[in-house]
Amino acid sequence: MPTILEIKDLKKTYDSGDRHLTVLQGINFSLEAGDVCAIVGPSGSGKTTLLGLCAGLDRASSGSVILNGIKLDDLSEDERAQVRNQYVGFIFQNFQLIPTLTALENVMVPLELRGERNVQQQAMDLLARVGLAERAVHYPTQLSGGEQQRVSLARAFSNRPAILFADEPTGNLDEETGERVEKLLFDLNREAGTTLVLVTHDLELAAKTDRIIRIKGGTVVSDEVTSVVNNG
Ligand SMILES: Nc1ncnc2c1ncn2[C@@H]1O[C@H](COP(=O)(O)OP(=O)(O)O)[C@@H](O)[C@H]1O
Ligand SMILES: [Mg+2]
Repeated sequence: MPTILEIKDLKKTYDSGDRHLTVLQGINFSLEAGDVCAIVGPSGSGKTTLLGLCAGLDRASSGSVILNGIKLDDLSEDERAQVRNQYVGFIFQNFQLIPTLTALENVMVPLELRGERNVQQQAMDLLARVGLAERAVHYPTQLSGGEQQRVSLARAFSNRPAILFADEPTGNLDEETGERVEKLLFDLNREAGTTLVLVTHDLELAAKTDRIIRIKGGTVVSDEVTSVVNNG
């Protein structure tokens, strides 16, 4: 399988005034297309920061992110936005739907940005797939947390991303709702054959992926393949 994501000696320091907080101290790993992997680590260990850099949402202080063969390091904000729309899906812990748009319109956004045809029908099909056809015209505030996250799954898959990042996608949901969203995420991912990078501190959830990368103190402390165990 071709390499879809390559992270080389990635460092990130947040500067505010004369305070400098180095969150990532040199992260290295790479993923092949179709990999399903979890990134785990204690709260504050830099998981969200790392995911944002991998997805081109933010820029590293040094080191390299190569996504689908494209080096993100020196791209402008606009160029990174284009790469994201072309190749990346992202699911946030707090859903991040656009509050002034309906569920349907939220799912349509990435499709419209790509200039696709039949945008409304495609978005409707995706909403039906996540069980929300009847809620298409509702606004995010009119939906429960689980429903909002299902809309955000539909949105994330709508541009058929080469790679999907999910940052604690069930972290704000109760257990039962979380399990439903989790199953949907894995099902959609299997159907689409997408590379999935999942940040979680839920070790049960992490164990359902093929590979677990642990970060602590800004470095990778272990990187283990779990599929052997799962299949055996
Ligand atoms: N934009 C920012 N500015 C300054 N510090 C930040 C910023 N984002 C995150 N941090 C800090 O970086 C550290 C890692 O945060 P984060 O990546 O959110 O960790 P995690 O997702 O593992 O909980 C934390 O100490 C956090 O306070
Ligand atoms: Mg986080």
